[in-house]
Amino acid sequence: MLKVSDLSAGFETETGFLEAVDRVSFRVDDKESLGIVGESGCGKSVTAHSILGLLPQPSGKITGGTISLNGKELATLGEKKLREIRGREVGMIFQEPMTALNPVHPIGRQIAECLRTHGMGKKRQNRDRALELLQKVGIPSPEQRLKEYPHQLSGGMRQRIVIAMALACHPHLLIADEPTTALDVTTQAQILELLAELKESLSMALILITHDLGVIAETCDRVVVMYAGRVVESAPVREIFANPLHRYTAGLLRSIPSLETVPKTRLSTIPGRVPGLAELPVGARFAPRSDHPQIDDYLQSEDFHSKRPDLIEAAPGHWVEDCDYVRTD
Ligand SMILES: Nc1ncnc2c1ncn2[C@@H]1O[C@H](COP(=O)(O)OP(=O)(O)O)[C@@H](O)[C@H]1O
Ligand SMILES: [Mg+2]
Repeated sequence: MLKVSDLSAGFETETGFLEAVDRVSFRVDDKESLGIVGESGCGKSVTAHSILGLLPQPSGKITGGTISLNGKELATLGEKKLREIRGREVGMIFQEPMTALNPVHPIGRQIAECLRTHGMGKKRQNRDRALELLQKVGIPSPEQRLKEYPHQLSGGMRQRIVIAMALACHPHLLIADEPTTALDVTTQAQILELLAELKESLSMALILITHDLGVIAETCDRVVVMYAGRVVESAPVREIFANPLHRYTAGLLRSIPSLETVPKTRLSTIPGRVPGLAELPVGARFAPRSDHPQIDDYLQSEDFHSKRPDLIEAAPGHWVEDCDYVRTD
């Protein structure tokens, strides 16, 4: 359905062009759910925005690669065509539901508007369809809700509305960028469950973007791990949890809170931070944070400054950055 190949994208800034996404490749098959995970600043949103033609203009640019959606090439498509694809073929949900909602209009009107822009049915039908959508996303007393304004709803309810709007035109693919990050833990679990349910019942494909590998465990079939603008590992979810091959992935796994975690114990976090776009090495970008015993050898090597590691298929369907110093052993 969606095939992203060697996608590179970045921003024109006062100090020159900065690359935020470096030759990222992945695919999403029909009805599949793909997780994209990585700490904040790793290029997940820039990747999603590139697919949807939503990079900020005029600074954001796709500089290389292809994005093929059901055979259509999106990377070079004009804004008008892209607008048709957004909403109709690809639905999207972002972290903060209020960005997708208009505070001055009642919910019903916003859903109707969304159906109308995409030329769905007549007024009467649209109202029925809006009610049906609200039911589908688990909103109690939908008749009542249609008349309410976004501020009258809880964060979880708002996100359900945004999901309803994203589903309005039966997209084949839903891209959810940190859809639960702004919500409390209980609501988070409910929204994830809803997304998983909808994906099944509507036979959609799903891209779930998150900084929390725990979120992916329940919801996704496969996962792509991004670090500093690159894919460093990708595999079926079960495989990633059982056998992480990249030290970054292993670090992310250690930082998932579990039910057994004593509330006051501190979760392990990966020491160091994601590098800024102006300070990215050519070699394995996670190396400065890697706990490999001989990591200093690599950091001082010519390779670190000049050789971009390829991804290799270490086991069937399990890809990892080809650099011993960032691999687990
Ligand atoms: N409009 C922008 N101009 C310049 N740099 C940006 C812009 N948006 C994002 N970036 C940079 O691109 C990198 C990737 O950002 P992003 O994709 O938002 O990360 P993530 O979604 O993984 O947290 C970060 O270093 C971020 O600072
Ligand atoms: Mg983001």
